[in-house]
Amino acid sequence: MSLPLTRRNFVLGAGAASAAILTARRGMSSPATDTKVSIDLSKETGTIRPELHGHFAEHLGSCVYGGLWVGKNSKIPNVNGHRKQAVDYLKGLIPVLRWPGGCFADDYHWRDGIGPAAKRPNSVNIHWGMYTEDNSFGTHEFIELCRLIGAEPYLAANMGSGTPEEVRRWMEYCNYPKGSALAEERAANGSAAPFNVKYWGVGNENWGCGGNMNGDEYATEYRRFSTFMPKFGETAPFLIACGPNGNDKVWTQKFWGNMGRGRRPDGYAMHFYSNGRENTATHFTVENMRAQFESFPKIESAILEQRALLDTLAPAGGRNQPVGLLLDEWGVWDKMDPAEEKKYGKLFQQITMRSAVAGALGLNVVHRQAGKLVMSNIAQMVNVLHALLLTDEDQCVRTTTYYVYEMTKAHLGQMSVATENAAQGANELSISASRKEKELTITLINPKHDATLNVSCGLSGGSAAGATGRILQDGDLNAANTFATPDRITPKALQVAAQGGTVSVELPPLSVATVLVKLG
Ligand code: AHR
Repeated sequence: MSLPLTRRNFVLGAGAASAAILTARRGMSSPATDTKVSIDLSKETGTIRPELHGHFAEHLGSCVYGGLWVGKNSKIPNVNGHRKQAVDYLKGLIPVLRWPGGCFADDYHWRDGIGPAAKRPNSVNIHWGMYTEDNSFGTHEFIELCRLIGAEPYLAANMGSGTPEEVRRWMEYCNYPKGSALAEERAANGSAAPFNVKYWGVGNENWGCGGNMNGDEYATEYRRFSTFMPKFGETAPFLIACGPNGNDKVWTQKFWGNMGRGRRPDGYAMHFYSNGRENTATHFTVENMRAQFESFPKIESAILEQRALLDTLAPAGGRNQPVGLLLDEWGVWDKMDPAEEKKYGKLFQQITMRSAVAGALGLNVVHRQAGKLVMSNIAQMVNVLHALLLTDEDQCVRTTTYYVYEMTKAHLGQMSVATENAAQGANELSISASRKEKELTITLINPKHDATLNVSCGLSGGSAAGATGRILQDGDLNAANTFATPDRITPKALQVAAQGGTVSVELPPLSVATVLVKLG
């Protein structure tokens, strides 16, 4: 039975987990504020497709080499060269994985990464440090990794320094069932079965590292490349065009203004990072944190505005399917620590409690706007930017962001439902909710460092018959799961009061909670 939540029974209530009591004590040291939210179960706003919890792995720093890929002869436990600990942690958590970039994609030549590893050439990574890579991780290894962790592969093809012929041949190599020279070559390299890759990016950030084009120039290139990207096997390719940097409307207008009669993209990829470049990840001030959190309402507006532009410039109807909007790269991008970058590779940053709150704020945007998006990929999965895992030699640490994904996975496949929040603003309580039959999943975030929130959540269109909860919390915004303290911040039980039309929880400062409500 769930009790109504008062401070007294929160601590004394029968069955209260000791972790919840601990959380309550921490919270009591900061002033408590009552806050009200509501969930309307009858207002459905779109399915939370699994792809909305997508990820990204680029040949950058130690994301792939040294991170995910340690090589078959490594002393680090591995599955055919893939770091075993990472595979175990990521299995079932990664619905879709984008590779090989990023900026790297527009200078990646897929042929360098197939065939016997010893014969693969060394190539220079011109975007991320001019170091050489031995190409031991290529197309087959990427597909194998996807299969090991249960992810749908998403290949980003090289438009920048490549040709339509090169992309076309990569597609044929991956997807043509058998009988062509490229299909036979794939079979000789170990996979008689086609890879059936569905998601194909046509370039990456072609307004920048992918060729410094304008939107109309990119449209011309897009039309040419996409003409040679047909359905090679059973899987119809879902072609993804490069969308804007942030909410750049001029790019979108120019691209669609010059799209003309070409093969229309199925998806349109927007990139939107949340910068925090004043201090390194573990030295954020409260002001730095609050400024970074301000980016999330901007991302939400960008989704709505870019979606509206797509509906106007590329309307569905007749033979035209709606074009899906992707939040293709997002996440926190903090000031890098040169010593850490030297040791762990480019764009390595520590992931703190503040990063976890930011990750959850981003996921709440994505959940709320599920009806407007077809995919969203946080950047990046391992050792780069807003990572889920950090590795050092044989150590592999689950970051706070890992736990945010693990806790919020329950939303996937559910119907997002409308929420209302009495306190508006980037640094106020954040909520998203989704429903499947008699299950309601709610994610609640307290982004404040100095106040506990007593949340009262009113339900309409349904009533609660019980609830359980989990919370990720640390009052120190710079606290992290480091190599020395890998388990400092992990999810704990959270007491929830759920009765009839009200669900109540107490959220201590800097916390992310997921509440699973049984509907009566
Ligand atoms: O994720 C790091 C980089 O950010 C990617 O390579 C690029 O697409 C973006 O600018």
